[in-house]
Amino acid sequence: MRISIIGAGYVGLVIGACFAKLGNEVVLIDVDEEKLEAIHNKASPIYEEGLDELLSQVHIEVSTDYQKILPSDIIFICVGTSSDESGSIFLEQITEATKQIAEVVKTREGYCVVAVKSTVAPGTTEELVIPLLETSGRKVGDDFGVCMCPEFLREGKAIYDFMHPARVIIGEYDSKSGDMLYKLYQSFNAPILRTNLRTTEMIKLASNAFLATRITFINEIGNICKQLGIDVYEVAKGMGLDDRIGSGYLNAGLGFGGSCLPKDLKMLISGATEVGYKPTIIEEISSFNDAQPLRFIELLKKHISLKGAVIGLLGLAFKPGTDDVRDSGAIKIVEALLQGGAIVKAYDPMAVKNFSKLFPQIEYVTKEEVLDSDAILIVTEWEEFNKLDYKGKVVVDGRRIVKAREARIYEGICW
Ligand SMILES: NC(=O)c1ccc[n+]([C@@H]2O[C@H](COP(=O)([O-])OP(=O)(O)OC[C@H]3O[C@@H](n4cnc5c(N)ncnc54)[C@H](O)[C@@H]3O)[C@@H](O)[C@H]2O)c1
Repeated sequence: MRISIIGAGYVGLVIGACFAKLGNEVVLIDVDEEKLEAIHNKASPIYEEGLDELLSQVHIEVSTDYQKILPSDIIFICVGTSSDESGSIFLEQITEATKQIAEVVKTREGYCVVAVKSTVAPGTTEELVIPLLETSGRKVGDDFGVCMCPEFLREGKAIYDFMHPARVIIGEYDSKSGDMLYKLYQSFNAPILRTNLRTTEMIKLASNAFLATRITFINEIGNICKQLGIDVYEVAKGMGLDDRIGSGYLNAGLGFGGSCLPKDLKMLISGATEVGYKPTIIEEISSFNDAQPLRFIELLKKHISLKGAVIGLLGLAFKPGTDDVRDSGAIKIVEALLQGGAIVKAYDPMAVKNFSKLFPQIEYVTKEEVLDSDAILIVTEWEEFNKLDYKGKVVVDGRRIVKAREARIYEGICW
């Protein structure tokens, strides 16, 4: 099929490369010329396992020019959506991208489908995307179709997740729209659920809220276990053996970060509040998660006074396998350390470039140099941290790095 993807970020680039690998003709549109230049040169602008190799195997046309999407059968919108502390959702990127698509749809002969992959609040595709597309003078259902087809990939495992989805959800304006996406996804070995646009938008948000709930739940159990001298990882193992519970997303620690879970909770809270419902559980999960990194700092303060101390961070990415630092727990931790007068040194195998844009004032060093700090904080569970020599050190561990237990003083966040 001829596929266009608007937005060459973590989602757009991965799915573009994967669709190309599966034999589709792919055009990738972005406003960021530097990013497109890198992709054109087969060098991924993001770190994601296997992506450089995949890019070297496929042909993808890249452009800033929306006219290139004209012959497409399906146009996926993969631009960013964001929210702020107050819960306001920013839809400028979707709005702008959709307006540009409408300009192309205006001149297009024949039927195509526009499919939203960006995560949006229920109602957004119907109330924002479709009306904007119809400013083209063309009519949804007759001249073009619309779907909402959320992406469930995890950064760090994105290619695998795309190629082996647990399920494909197709939200469709009408069955003709959905048929086109069904044709694209039918060869994937996964159940396909076809439903309406709003339900699909909610499936994505509710799925992420549920994962966030599991993480937060086990963190709360972990905080209690720590007081009681019980190992929460043993507790989680025992719980996970029950197949009504399962073992996923039960690793207690610093909490969740990244570009999805925190933002998607805020999106859900704001959507609920707009219709007059107070989502108390989801609000609590969000604020509990915001507080967990600060609890971590309190544990550190039991062992060291921050003022003038050199504190070393192992890990800056929100999780291993990515260079993404959006909403990483490291951000709150560094803010608190600097506020307390500490000198911060940090190491991450992949995320230094992105983190240093947020915190140019801290020192970025090797992992060995981090070990020379007055105290070490483990923030991301990169496998390589399990091979360091922690003997004689003061370590506060947010991610359960087993080797770190050999430290002179070792404190786990929930254990
Ligand atoms: N990152 C993930 O793991 C993940 C997983 C599932 C869903 N999502 C959702 O997918 C969406 C995209 O996420 P992401 O992490 O890829 O975002 P991102 O910020 O990495 O990428 C967005 C891209 O869109 C480009 N862009 C912005 N405005 C544009 C425009 N008008 N025209 C063309 N390109 C434009 C940006 O330059 C950027 O390259 C978000 O809604 C996110 O919540 C993300």
